[in-house]
Amino acid sequence: MSQQSDETAGHSTPAQSTWGGRFEEQLNAVAARVNTSVDVDKRLGEDDVRGSIAHVRMLAKTGIVSADDAQKIEAGLRQIGEEIAAGSMEWKASLEDVHMNIETLLTQRIGEAGGRLHTARSRNDQVSTDMRLWTRAALERVTQKTEALMAVLLVRAEQSLDVVMPGYTHLQRAQPVRLAHHLLAWCEMLERDRGRYVDARARLNESPLGAAALAGTTFPIDREMTAKELGFDRPMRNSLDASADRDFLLEALSALSIQAVHLSRIGEELVLWSAQEFGFVTMTDAFTTGSSIMPQKKNPDMAELVRGKAGKVIGDLVSLLVLMKGLPLAYNRDMQEDKRPAFDAFDTIEDCLDVFAGAIATARFDAVRMRKALREGFVEATEIADWLAAHGVPFREAHHVAGRLVKRCVEAGKTLPELTLEELRQEHASFDDSIFRALEPEVAIERRDVIGGPAKKRIEAALVALEARLRGYGVEARAVAAERGAR
Ligand code: ARG
Repeated sequence: MSQQSDETAGHSTPAQSTWGGRFEEQLNAVAARVNTSVDVDKRLGEDDVRGSIAHVRMLAKTGIVSADDAQKIEAGLRQIGEEIAAGSMEWKASLEDVHMNIETLLTQRIGEAGGRLHTARSRNDQVSTDMRLWTRAALERVTQKTEALMAVLLVRAEQSLDVVMPGYTHLQRAQPVRLAHHLLAWCEMLERDRGRYVDARARLNESPLGAAALAGTTFPIDREMTAKELGFDRPMRNSLDASADRDFLLEALSALSIQAVHLSRIGEELVLWSAQEFGFVTMTDAFTTGSSIMPQKKNPDMAELVRGKAGKVIGDLVSLLVLMKGLPLAYNRDMQEDKRPAFDAFDTIEDCLDVFAGAIATARFDAVRMRKALREGFVEATEIADWLAAHGVPFREAHHVAGRLVKRCVEAGKTLPELTLEELRQEHASFDDSIFRALEPEVAIERRDVIGGPAKKRIEAALVALEARLRGYGVEARAVAAERGAR
């Protein structure tokens, strides 16, 4: 084997020497190691077979190869496909990549006809086709797993409709909210992630097959036919672009990176909430680990690891961006290095989504601790300011009054509801008894009866709407959540 670029299609005879007549010397051993990619790209095996079957059917239909040869090729490919699926395919590093492994084995098995498969195509359009097929399926998987996590959050939110907790800004207790409101906020982030996957899938769904090495082919191929056969919406318009472009991967990994950041933020909250200082959540043994030295420890490792994995996924995106930056059209061998980061980013996110679905489905939220956290931190201060503003005091002044009351409390070691009416009136004469009711978290929450707010009926409506959207995505939320462990 040797080092030629695979720029032509149609008449190679891999049985003699991988790269044909021009090469006499063997590839240097280290060069061979740098050159080979089958260890990584064998994951494309089934997609490669699928692409080849579509291609050979087209070759037969257009009369480029005989029906007899095409039939032998397809049968051989099917068998190889089954072996790949069963894990029994023997991959050879010396055959460089997934494409050469499959073609070589095919030709060994069916003879001369195998050598006709590569007519009117190149590994350049072949690998681009394979990657698009693989990425399309991978995007569908992360879409589904994102929906499953949303379903879990929906069910957990329904269960915690009456659980109140502090909402935070600057990690300081700020205003009371519902746990359900917080869980639904996570859901919103995830639903946008889902939307990005759907968008990326739609944009990548065009067929590069037929672009050949870069400039199409002299054979009378039918690109519409192969596009349709492979479930693509249409053939890509420009053969140079079709063979050279990897922006579908950049887009997919951008979407994965954004989701990684979302999952990392959720992970951080679960870590915080698991700390004794918060005590808001306990994750089950199946999703926590102990310490090898401190017997009392129950660590929220899954939340920490998901938080950490974001670094890897972002790294995958960056390595792909840097890989592609500055490459001239059309194909360049650098692009072989696209696979490891692409596979890693998808694998990582799939695991993170699964582990969070299970961990959150089964986590125990501590309503008592959350309610208790509302007692400290003066989260009622905004209520006081709003109450005054609603009673005719300009909001700026009201804000000032509430601030002075907080200061008083700090000095006296009291909470805001513990102030007497007299003390309140010392700061502003318009206070009356009705202020005390306004300070109760449940009341404060109910009064936030606006679009997107935490009032009970707003949350109930949000839950109904979310369930309907999930159903629109083909997801029966309750059943999916139950599968993940949410009862
Ligand atoms: N293994 C190669 C890759 O993944 C396939 C395309 C090879 N094309 C070439 N001209 N050498 O990029």
